[in-house]
Amino acid sequence: MSSILRVQNLTKSYQSGNRTLTVLDNVSFDVQAGDTFSIVGPSGSGKTTLLGLCAGLDRSSSGSVFLNGVQLDKLSEDERARVRNQYVGFIFQNFQLMPTLTALENVMVPMELRGEKGVAKRALELLDRVGLASRQHHYPTQLSGGEQQRVSLARAFSNKPRILFADEPTGNLDTETSDKVEKLIFELNREQGTTLILVTHDLDLAAKTGRIIRIKGGSVVSDTLTEAVRQQI
Ligand SMILES: Nc1ncnc2c1ncn2[C@@H]1O[C@H](COP(=O)(O)OP(=O)(O)OP(=O)(O)O)[C@@H](O)[C@H]1O
Ligand SMILES: [Mg+2]
Repeated sequence: MSSILRVQNLTKSYQSGNRTLTVLDNVSFDVQAGDTFSIVGPSGSGKTTLLGLCAGLDRSSSGSVFLNGVQLDKLSEDERARVRNQYVGFIFQNFQLMPTLTALENVMVPMELRGEKGVAKRALELLDRVGLASRQHHYPTQLSGGEQQRVSLARAFSNKPRILFADEPTGNLDTETSDKVEKLIFELNREQGTTLILVTHDLDLAAKTGRIIRIKGGSVVSDTLTEAVRQQI
């Protein structure tokens, strides 16, 4: 088995005045390709920070992240952007759609960056899968929170990621839409072998993944295999 994500002694601190605020403290774990994995913990415990470091969106203060064998902390900003576009899908807690682009155009961006052809057709198919074909020409301000979350999901899927990082992917959705989104995410894992790394407050969702890491105050307090996996061993 090969490790698609290796996090070693990861620490992130911010300087505020003459105080150092450590938001992640010496975090280590390994994720195998094709695994499904959840990160849970209270608000402010460092989950979004950890996800951002794992995906190469941010730099650590110390420690290393290896993504698909590439050590992210050794790369420049541009090189990290290339690795992200090649391997990573990311669903942000606050969506981060481009405000000047329509739903369809937002989904097209990662594919255009890769220089692909026929991207509008595929982007529309993806929007259709999240139930938003009829909203393709809407701008983010014309979409509800849950709809923006689903556009963000379609965008994350658009480059067939090896690894999908999803920060509260069902946080803004009603039960029915949330079930649909969950189904889509796990389908991606099964059909394309995409590794899933979810941050969630929904313990039922976490229990559907193979492993749960709980963080508190920036440190890992438990790392357990879920029932779903134990039954297979
Ligand atoms: N740029 C920054 N400068 C200073 N402190 C920061 C910065 N970004 C995040 N923090 C702090 O780091 C801590 C962890 O934030 P993070 O967003 O990772 O939490 P979280 O676990 O995702 O919380 P939530 O469940 O509310 O989304 C918080 O206390 C936050 O205030
Ligand atoms: Mg967060």
